[in-house]
Amino acid sequence: MLQGLISRISGPVVYAHGMRGSRLYDVVRVGHEQLNGEIIRLDADEAVIQVYEDTSGLKVGEEVVDTESPLSVELGPGIISSIYDGIQRPLPILMEKSGDFISRGITAPGLDRDRKWEFAPSVKQGDALVAGDVVGTVHEYHIEHKIMVPPNVSGTVTEIAGGNFTVEDTVCVLDNKTNVTMMQKWPVRIGRPYAKKLDATSPLLTGQRIFDSMFPVTKGGTAMIPGGFGTGKTVSEQTLAKWADAQIIVYIGCGERGNEMTDVLTEFPALVDPRTKRPLIQRTIMIANTSNMPVAAREASIYTGITMAEYYRDMGYDVALMADSTSRWGEALREVSGRLEEMPGEEGYPAYLATRLAAFYERAGRVVCLGADGRTGSITVVGAVSPPGGDFSEPITQNTLRIAGAFWALDTSLAYRRHFPAVNWINSYSLYLDSVQESFVDSIAYDWRDLRDKTMFLLQKEVELQEIVQLVGPDALPETEKAILEVTRMIREDFLQQSAFDEIDSFCPLEKQYWMLKAILAFNDATTEALSRGISLQQVLALPVKTAIARMKEQEELDAIKGLIDVIDSSVGSLEAAT
Ligand SMILES: Nc1ncnc2c1ncn2[C@@H]1O[C@H](COP(=O)(O)OP(=O)(O)OP(=O)(O)O)[C@@H](O)[C@H]1O
Ligand SMILES: [Mg+2]
Repeated sequence: MLQGLISRISGPVVYAHGMRGSRLYDVVRVGHEQLNGEIIRLDADEAVIQVYEDTSGLKVGEEVVDTESPLSVELGPGIISSIYDGIQRPLPILMEKSGDFISRGITAPGLDRDRKWEFAPSVKQGDALVAGDVVGTVHEYHIEHKIMVPPNVSGTVTEIAGGNFTVEDTVCVLDNKTNVTMMQKWPVRIGRPYAKKLDATSPLLTGQRIFDSMFPVTKGGTAMIPGGFGTGKTVSEQTLAKWADAQIIVYIGCGERGNEMTDVLTEFPALVDPRTKRPLIQRTIMIANTSNMPVAAREASIYTGITMAEYYRDMGYDVALMADSTSRWGEALREVSGRLEEMPGEEGYPAYLATRLAAFYERAGRVVCLGADGRTGSITVVGAVSPPGGDFSEPITQNTLRIAGAFWALDTSLAYRRHFPAVNWINSYSLYLDSVQESFVDSIAYDWRDLRDKTMFLLQKEVELQEIVQLVGPDALPETEKAILEVTRMIREDFLQQSAFDEIDSFCPLEKQYWMLKAILAFNDATTEALSRGISLQQVLALPVKTAIARMKEQEELDAIKGLIDVIDSSVGSLEAAT
């Protein structure tokens, strides 16, 4: 085993000499307390190490031991519903061992070594297998956890049997003497292989109107949520983690406040999936590296998270990964880079910030998985970005902007007016509108895109009209334009606003979204028609349908919303001009 000695300590960065023969990204144990670290630079016999734990008390001259393997995660049954830190140490076990304040040098395996899982084989002796082939399954809650031939392995089955096994037991032997266990280890900084990348064409439905109906993201797509302080990044990410129609959710709390993560941890176990009626925690993996935890582990946390996401993708599942916030990850990168005395780029971030961000988001996508059956899986990545002062011109926002397919811009003034979700409908965009078109037509209606574009048109028109109103006052506008302002107010308040905390409205099925929009636009058409007959806007606005539209959110019966369209047509249509 390779050993060296500490020569210098700079915050989370430790220099050690006598490390000739070590490899970049090897995991090391640092000092008497055996703190976890990773080699991030090698110069002759000096290794530069980022340490995942608090380094105070560490001294020059203490030893460093190279484990000779890269930073890896353990992949196998038992990951789901776990809560890990940034380097896959199970937080509840760490706390059990050392109390709320996690002491240093504690290790605990990512997967429980004692727990037995009932393995049901799906291949038999003599079957020829390639990498990615499924040798059998175990039940991880309701998820059929597929035990796969690891990447780069193939062979013919010589032994296989069902039964109860731990993750270290061999469940299948191949003719080249490979023992397949239920656990794989994978280096987090390297993307897991797949057969082929595919276009992503089906939407990741979230039950949030502003996302699904206006700026959809695909299963396999990427989205970013930039927003200043308190604009709703965390609430948005948590809402997505609750309601997104993915089979597996990976939630990374990256450098956020500890109490926010506690909220998630206490709230999640009680939540039920509206579609499957199962506890949401049974499809969720949580990674928590809060602001009070060591900065280097935060840098690792997004890789730990996405590697787990890839593993479930490889089984053929749709996985959604939320990272809150990638800015805190970037700051960790900046801090370590500063300690390394690297040449700083923009705003002190290292020059490789853009490449690192791109490499992370690049691991999203819909793919044909390894394995002869040609199954497909996807990873959708939604990253929150916290630009200081809400200024989107800063490096993390700008670099993510070039990569993400959906841009959900949170707006301080909307949040201030308590318009939630505070997504600015003028600045936001989705590059996936055309990709999801067919799926939306099949699942809801042929005219979804028309409705959506008409809505955006009206909202853009509203901006122009508001400028005029600011200059000359509302009375200068003709009735038809005043009517547009009434309709756009409806779009904003009765459609776009959606409380994440309302029992009914926090989740809005796509079909309901469609009919709500359809009703508002029916009101728009009926009003335009009535005005052309000489009816006054005031007469239209006095009708009770206006209140009925405002109450669609609370309405659980789809038929009631559909029926509203007839009521709108008949009540507005039967108005008579005052003589
Ligand atoms: N969709 C929503 N529905 C209702 N309220 C919301 C919604 N989104 C945000 N809020 C309100 O805004 C507050 C702040 O939201 P949140 O904590 O998500 O902001 P943030 O952008 O994560 O802030 P920070 O920059 O501090 O991390 C919430 O506590 C909540 O009151
Ligand atoms: Mg937050």
